[in-house]
Amino acid sequence: MAGITDAEFLNKIIPYGFDAVTLGGYSLDEKTIEASEKIIQRGRKEFHFELDEVIPHIEKEVNLIKKNHPNVRVSANVRSTIPEPIIEASKIKDLDIIEINCHCRQEEIIAIGCGQEMLKRDDFSSYISEIVDNSESDVSVKIRANVDGVDTLKTAKIIEDAGADYLHLDAMDPTVFDADWKLLENVCKNTNIKVIGNNSIDSVEKIRKMYDCGVYGFSIARAVISGSLNFDISNF
Ligand SMILES: Cc1cc2nc3c(=O)[nH]c(=O)nc-3n(C[C@H](O)[C@H](O)[C@H](O)COP(=O)(O)O)c2cc1C
Repeated sequence: MAGITDAEFLNKIIPYGFDAVTLGGYSLDEKTIEASEKIIQRGRKEFHFELDEVIPHIEKEVNLIKKNHPNVRVSANVRSTIPEPIIEASKIKDLDIIEINCHCRQEEIIAIGCGQEMLKRDDFSSYISEIVDNSESDVSVKIRANVDGVDTLKTAKIIEDAGADYLHLDAMDPTVFDADWKLLENVCKNTNIKVIGNNSIDSVEKIRKMYDCGVYGFSIARAVISGSLNFDISNF
């Protein structure tokens, strides 16, 4: 979560039983860094680093986690309008997963064709495959479900065909405060990619429901920052 999930934060929550954690999101190219500055100016939390600082910073953060938790997989969630900086970041030593952020819906990011707007780009498939073909880490693609004008299952298949290792799916249903379980199940049934199910997990029951949909794994965001993560996840 932008501006929140740094190494210090993640080191504190790993003992709840997480076997993988995500740093970021970080903006990696000139356009996304400029967009981040605008987001900060209007008062929203963001991680902000200059172009030549951001990758060394992520490397430092990865080390801070690995030093304490060598067996936990570390992912970095990143945004860039072009693939090259993401390929560069995938080379960070000890980084396990580079996660392409095709999920952010902040207007400054959407305005430059990044975040969830990536899903509408004509070059979406080639953008993902260029990263997959040149990455030195596993590649995860984080998307939001039910984006207006975007077929989520078709998008999942594009990501699978491009060769990504994981589809991190925020199964948001914009009409309710809950995941779109049907859509999640449909994506899991009709693809072979490892789906990390995300959205609204705040109990063991919800984790079970997610596995019933066929996910490979799950992720939790808001329940972690709100402190309502009061259940043991180590058995999943
Ligand atoms: C304050 C905040 C910042 C977030 N920043 C990011 C981000 O940088 N990258 C990303 O992929 N998702 C980001 N998200 C989305 C969460 O990772 C997650 O997909 C979403 O909150 C739904 O999961 P949850 O119901 O467990 O919170 C953010 C969410 C929040 C609340």
